[in-house]
Parts: sequence; structure tokens; C-alpha cells
Amino acid sequence: MLYRNFGKPFFFAMDAEKAHHLVIGSLNKAGRIPGGVSLLRSMYRVRETADLATDLFGLHFPTPIGLAAGLDKNGEAVPGFSSIGFGFMEVGTVTPEPQPGNEQPRLFRLPQDEALINRMGFNNQGAAAMATVLSGIKERPIPVGINIGKNKITANEDAPLDYRKCIEKLYSHADFFVVNISSPNTPDLRSLQHGSELSDLLAAVMDQMKKESQKSGVKKPVLVKIAPDVTEVELKYMVDTISKSGVSGIIATNTTISREGLTHENAKETGGLSGKPLRDRSTEIISQIYRQTNGQLPIIGSGGIFTAKDAYDKIKAGASLVEIYTALIYEGPEINQRLHEGLRELLRKDGYRHISEAVGADHR
Ligand SMILES: Cc1cc2nc3c(=O)[nH]c(=O)nc-3n(C[C@H](O)[C@H](O)[C@H](O)COP(=O)(O)O)c2cc1C
Repeated sequence: MLYRNFGKPFFFAMDAEKAHHLVIGSLNKAGRIPGGVSLLRSMYRVRETADLATDLFGLHFPTPIGLAAGLDKNGEAVPGFSSIGFGFMEVGTVTPEPQPGNEQPRLFRLPQDEALINRMGFNNQGAAAMATVLSGIKERPIPVGINIGKNKITANEDAPLDYRKCIEKLYSHADFFVVNISSPNTPDLRSLQHGSELSDLLAAVMDQMKKESQKSGVKKPVLVKIAPDVTEVELKYMVDTISKSGVSGIIATNTTISREGLTHENAKETGGLSGKPLRDRSTEIISQIYRQTNGQLPIIGSGGIFTAKDAYDKIKAGASLVEIYTALIYEGPEINQRLHEGLRELLRKDGYRHISEAVGADHR
């Protein structure tokens, strides 16, 4: 209620990107001042319950609801986001070198469609700066994934080196990595999802992960995040290649370039669309991946989750964990408690004792 009545009217009166920086700045500060984290926890904490706690890829997720990539691009607010009820979070997308991203304005609200359009273009301070910020964090209370990408000026044939550099610089600071090849805002990035570009990239990523694990003695998971704008045939190839590559899982999906069903005038803006209009398409993709892999490759579902039912639909389609971004902007941090309680209720109603029993239930 606090966010809906006070926070949202305040933030929504502001330019979307300014509001974004204010949120990150406040959470960053809250993480540094004495008592800040405890205050956030007392307001927004989601108590871990045995029915939703999930162990996957050797990591413990206290709740299955995480923060999707793109909000904390530089890893500046990890303690803050870790205190408002998320079970895990992604930081990034980070690129090897810092880059400014696209010209502003580049983030647009579509309130009546419960959506956002962004063409940020991987604005970030680079992998070295992120390593410095993350090295200042004493402990990570929830798993933190680092979402990595390539610089805009890097040609696609050199992209594997960019991903290698990110893994090398950031290995010790992540609980898991996410290879982002699905943002629509870096020219040609999405072609890395197809053909030999995909198999070559994933071979390089797996090779670098192996090198870092041998150096450090610690093995970490890496996932691949895919776009929803693919044909069935393209998806089949992608899933096949990703499965064979040895990565730990897939995140489905990133934003869409589709504009179907939108009513707000900002629909004309170029960029990736997130929120409600993406929900069903991303659930469909999750379903196809689960079917093709017989549930053998873990999936993190992302796209248009606003309610517990939205999250549950993705879980029944095959997702083991889910992530949100746009709903956090529209609903505020209270959403985590609502999603948690709602999911428990839906599990109980269907007679499941643990969330893992519901994963992929649609296919049985
Ligand atoms: C403003 C904005 C920036 C984003 N930046 C990234 C990014 O840097 N890397 C990435 O993998 N996904 C990025 N995303 C996509 C989200 O992580 C998420 O996959 C997508 O928005 C769908 O989830 P949602 O409907 O809950 O927002 C961004 C989304 C938004 C709205």
C-alpha cells in the first residue's frame, strides 16, 4: 500500500529514467547506512518457507522469485535489493568496457498496458568497476547472478572474447553467470542466438568458465538468456545447441520487439517491450523448452509476471524459478510478499507440498 499510495505517484510524475536512478541511489544508500538494511527487511522481508525454498545448480534460493537483469546494471544496490524479499537477483548487463548506452530518452512507461519499452543499450560502468563495487560486499545473503554482454563497438565475430573478459574479471563475485544474447538494443546481438555463432560463443563461454573454476577451485553455473521473438524452428535449434553446450540452464525470456495489443501512444517507441503484453509469449517459450528437453534443463521464467497466478503458470509450464522487473516498477516491493503468499496458496490448492512438484505440471 505504501508504494501504491505514495511511492508510485511520486516516481511516476518523474521522467522514467530519473525515477530509476533515484530508486537505485536510495537502495544503495539504505545498504550503507546503519540500520538501513534492517529497516528494509522489517518492511519487505519474505520469510523463507520450506515449500518454496529451492536448491538448484548447487545454490540455495530462499524464495523462487528473483530480480531480473537491467535494474541494477552496475551492482550498486545488492544489499538493498537482497533485503526486500527477493530470493535471488541479477546484476548487469555488464560489458567488458564501460559504455554510455543509447541517447536519452530511452525508457518509456505504458501505464494502461502495464508495460515498459526500453532501448537503454547496455549503459554500464564496465566489468572492472563492477568488480570493485561487488568486492565491497561482505556476504551475499541471496544468490547473485552477473548478466554479461558485449560492447556495442565489438563486432559479432569478436563477441566471444568480450564474454570471456567479463567472466575472467568477475568470476569470484558471482554465484552464477547469465550470457545475454537477447537484448534488442545492441545492434545484431540477437544473431548470436543462431547457427554457428551460438555454438562458438557457448564453447568459448564454457571454456572460460572451466579455466576460472580450475584457477579458483570453485565451479559455478552459467545460464543463457533468450529472446521471445523466434520461430519454432529457430527455438528448437537454440534449445538443442544450448542443451549440448553444457550450460546449467536457460532464462526465458528477455523483452520483445512485438507491439501486439498495445494501446498507449508510447507503443511507437523503438526498443524492447516488457510487462503484461509479454507474459503469455514468454510462458509459451518456457513450455516449448521444457517439452523439448523433457524437463532436463532448468528454466528461469521471466516476462510479465504481476500476480502469483502469472508466476504459477510459468512454473507449471516448466520454470523452476521466476524473475520480475516491470511489475516491481508498477507495484513496488510489496509485490514480493504478495507473490510468495499467493504461490503458497496455489500450491496448497493443487495439493503440492513443494514447488518442485508443480514444475512442468502442465506436461504430465
Ligand atoms: C529498463 C529495462 C532494462 C533492462 N535491461 C536488461 C539488461 O541489461 N539485461 C537483460 O538481460 N535484460 C534486461 N531487461 C529485461 C528484463 O531483465 C526482463 O527479462 C524483462 O523485462 C521481462 O520481465 P518483466 O516483464 O518482468 O519486466 C531490461 C528490462 C527493462 C524494463
